[in-house]
Amino acid sequence: MAVDLSTTIAGVKLPNLLLNASGVNCRFENELQQLVESKSGSLITKSATLNSREGNPEPRYAPLAGSIGSINSMGLPNQGYEYYLNYAKNFDYNNTAGKPLFISLAGLSLAENKTMCEAFRDANLPCVLEVNFSCPNVPGKPQVGYDMEAMEQALQVLDPIIGRPFGIKLPPYFDIAHFDQAAAIFNKFDNVVFVTCINSVGNGLAIDLDSETALIKPKDGFGGLGGLLVLPTALANVNAFYRRLKPGKQVIGCGGVTSGKEVFLHILAGASAVEIGTQLMEEGTGVFERVQKELVELMTAKGYKSVEEFRGKVKTL
Ligand code: SIN
Repeated sequence: MAVDLSTTIAGVKLPNLLLNASGVNCRFENELQQLVESKSGSLITKSATLNSREGNPEPRYAPLAGSIGSINSMGLPNQGYEYYLNYAKNFDYNNTAGKPLFISLAGLSLAENKTMCEAFRDANLPCVLEVNFSCPNVPGKPQVGYDMEAMEQALQVLDPIIGRPFGIKLPPYFDIAHFDQAAAIFNKFDNVVFVTCINSVGNGLAIDLDSETALIKPKDGFGGLGGLLVLPTALANVNAFYRRLKPGKQVIGCGGVTSGKEVFLHILAGASAVEIGTQLMEEGTGVFERVQKELVELMTAKGYKSVEEFRGKVKTL
């Protein structure tokens, strides 16, 4: 039975619904090229700031014991937006795999985001922008996604500049009132056509039992959690926004994917595409082929031929 894993995000077709989570394997051109050559359906760049950044001191990423996930406090190491703008200008949009390019922007201020969005608007490229309101790891810079007023004000400025469909990378929310408030804001902006749920669960602390030491160096060991342990939080956020966003707006799921099974769950919760972060970091770009195969096997066993047949159809008791 032929199974269709294709999807469309922001009006752009992806040959399959898997891509990397921004931040993993996407800072440098050679890493992005590995994604182009992988079986992913698309790729997204590392969140860019106005100027290049080295990020936080190392060690700043660690897998957690028992393969339950990871902790990171990278601190937005990136090459500066001009590097990614240049990459987007030279990207072969007709590459044989037909993968679209997503560009992630994480200005350290509204002014930075404004300048970067203006530059991408002026370049008028077929890439899709995702504005990251949810990096938990830059000391002294709280996540915009947790400040509803600031987020709405930022969108009031950025939406008309971008002037075409774009998305937002969100932090996890943990309260129904916050799902309601955030969704009401996104529903006011026609160009906000997708939200990506979730960025890492911010400011966890992982400690090694033997050495009695935090696993990562920045911020006294505090960092964002990813991987399997965040799956239920990710699914809840995907589903909460799937239920609340106006028709035409989509959710990209991110968090807790280690196999085709978790991708299936993200789609059941309402995801239109699914990103892989920690598992990509641990396994490399071969993860896309494996996960895709597992998803196809699962869908075949359940008798589904396309992701539309079960997207958002999670049953409740
Ligand atoms: C980081 O660079 O610290 C991670 C990026 C993010 O969480 O948005």
